[in-house]
Amino acid sequence: MTTTDSGVPHVHAELLVASDSHIQRCAQALKQGLLVAFPTETVFGLGAAVNQLVAIEGIFKAKGRPSEHPLIAHVAPGADLTGWVAEVTPTMQKLMDAFWPGPLTLVVPKGACMPLQVTGGQSSVGIRCPSHPVAIELLKATGVPVAAPSANRFGKVSPTRASHVLAELGDRIPLILDGDVPEVGIESTIVSLLNDQPAILRPGAITAAQIEGVLGVAVKTHGQVSKTPNANPRVSGALEKHYSPDAKVWVLNANELFVVPVQQKTLCVGWSDAFLAQADALREKHGKVVVEALSYNPSEVAKALYATLRQADELACKQVLFEKPEESAEWEAVNDRLKRASA
Ligand code: TXA
Ligand code: MG
Repeated sequence: MTTTDSGVPHVHAELLVASDSHIQRCAQALKQGLLVAFPTETVFGLGAAVNQLVAIEGIFKAKGRPSEHPLIAHVAPGADLTGWVAEVTPTMQKLMDAFWPGPLTLVVPKGACMPLQVTGGQSSVGIRCPSHPVAIELLKATGVPVAAPSANRFGKVSPTRASHVLAELGDRIPLILDGDVPEVGIESTIVSLLNDQPAILRPGAITAAQIEGVLGVAVKTHGQVSKTPNANPRVSGALEKHYSPDAKVWVLNANELFVVPVQQKTLCVGWSDAFLAQADALREKHGKVVVEALSYNPSEVAKALYATLRQADELACKQVLFEKPEESAEWEAVNDRLKRASA
């Protein structure tokens, strides 16, 4: 292993297809303070055991992420949270019972054993129990929570395939565990339980309405939270530009397609007959246009979203023309990611 000028170790990642022995090997590596990328049902995470502080520091270096950005701690189903969170309140318990394992991160006061390096120096911690079977087995075998941001370079598109992690971090981390493709495809919903009223810090597959249904109280939606100036400066997913491919992303209706110049190679992604017909017309006229049809369903679009944005770069497209979904609660998470990708 050599070290680059930035202090990032230079390695060649080993790609391991999940099997009992590979999961055990990755858990051992985590316990010894190595970084391991692994699949979750949302996106791939870049993991370090929370009690391995050099490895935690290595996450920030590998991603090029500012160290004050807090990480999410991942736990296995039924894990004892004593010491990791200050207290399991009745509200927290209700949400855990309803949505764990699954794509919901709870921001709660941290416990005494949770290092400040994980929480970006804050007294709260984001904690989540993923439902991907490989993540569950890995967390069980590791025995301590695993801090894991999405396994991409800072500001880039989150990875939904092991090949995405390999392309972006393969020269910076030793191990990538592969498994079934993430079912959800975009990052977990983050709900803060720090104030009287629960607040959505990042929209995801689990909606405010679902959380309200379980708690029986009103939840501040992400729209309400993000209108408060500097409401959560430490949520990197809250930065205006994030989740971006190198290609420029435009989010448009069918009747706006013709306003974008298509001299450069362009990827058009949509679902409506009108949008796809316009995109086909562009392709016939200009040639350098690739058209990809998705089915109009928030879960399907979320699942395909990041791989599609990455495909633009893989195909050397300079721009992506993405069909604009409706503005409704069920599309909020996809709209949020598209807005940031196009910022
Ligand atoms: O689905 C996911 O959540 C994925 C997978 C790997 O689990 N992880 C993920 O991590 O998206 P990351 O680091 O890319 O995004 C975590 C977000 C960040 O925006 C961070 O600021 C926020 O969670 N976060 C973590 N702890 C927090 C805290 N104590 N207070 C406020 N925000 C917090
Ligand atoms: Mg991320």
